[in-house]
Amino acid sequence: MLIKRSPNGIDLPFPSEITPREVFEARRSFIKQMALGSIAGAGLLEMVNREAFAQAGQKLAATPNKSYVLMDKQTAYKDATTYNNYYEFGTDKEEPAGLASTLKTRPWTIAIEGEVAKPMTLDIDSLLKLAPLEERVYRLRCVEGWSMVIPWIGYSLSSLIRKVEPNSNAKFVEFVTLADPKQMPGINSRVLKWPYVEGLRIDEANHPLALLAVGMYGQVLPNQNGAPVRIVLPWKYGFKSAKSIVKIRFVREQPQTAWNRAAPREYGFYSNVNPEVDHPRWSQAMERRIGEDGLFAKKRKTLMFNGYNEVASLYTGMDLKKFF
Ligand code: MTE
Repeated sequence: MLIKRSPNGIDLPFPSEITPREVFEARRSFIKQMALGSIAGAGLLEMVNREAFAQAGQKLAATPNKSYVLMDKQTAYKDATTYNNYYEFGTDKEEPAGLASTLKTRPWTIAIEGEVAKPMTLDIDSLLKLAPLEERVYRLRCVEGWSMVIPWIGYSLSSLIRKVEPNSNAKFVEFVTLADPKQMPGINSRVLKWPYVEGLRIDEANHPLALLAVGMYGQVLPNQNGAPVRIVLPWKYGFKSAKSIVKIRFVREQPQTAWNRAAPREYGFYSNVNPEVDHPRWSQAMERRIGEDGLFAKKRKTLMFNGYNEVASLYTGMDLKKFF
């Protein structure tokens, strides 16, 4: 991932297209070759083997939800778990798969507070049991211009929201994620102001598509994908889907979110996937599907709301060029 320093001193990423997948794959294969040639120890070779980075997770049973089945081919597990954005573990796509192994996901609690009748702190095991786990296959489109198709496991965030009984002041929901410098080497960088925070309007959070995810591909979430609990919002750019959440706050005002704070002209609060609103530094009209990105692979047309038109009514009457 290339980083550009902006006038206000905040590091901004360029789209991943500048570092195409084949380039980083080649770089990784080069490192592997080097290890093969110069280091005899099988243990070290193992360290540079990306298969080893894709952690074999614990199995997690879930019932497929037929409303969220896609015809699209699913992204390979090894791609989904080795090409990640998780800046707390480095800004290169391949870094989180290795560095996030230090993340301790148990014990883990998640505090739910603010404008609610029943604030509560849940441990991860209670959260897992709060509603039946479903498998839902969602597309996720990154703001950088690539997308994946992943079988997630979780349940609608609305199931959790119902339990805490938000009051009429709860207009927005804020997701605060873990920021522990002892476990997360990326926290020492100034690339973002930590913790990574995201937010939604309450009606967006209550939309059935908004998923509280605890697993993927039939297993618990790998650390690099946001273990032990993250949000997945398939109609919004990937950065809205906060990973490793420790707090959910119900608030009156629109929360200050990490990327909006870092570069407000580039990353709006809504960040709905919208091929008609370009990022100031690149077009959003097309996307690369990870796994289809060989030298001659065609790009796909990006769809409004990433193809999830059922959310359109949330934005009736809003100018989505202004509220990007
Ligand atoms: N959550 C945290 N805490 N830190 C991050 O850096 N990156 C976001 C989002 N959630 C990020 C995060 C971005 S930019 C994307 S595209 C998605 O996570 C990537 O999720 P994935 O690695 O499962 O594909």
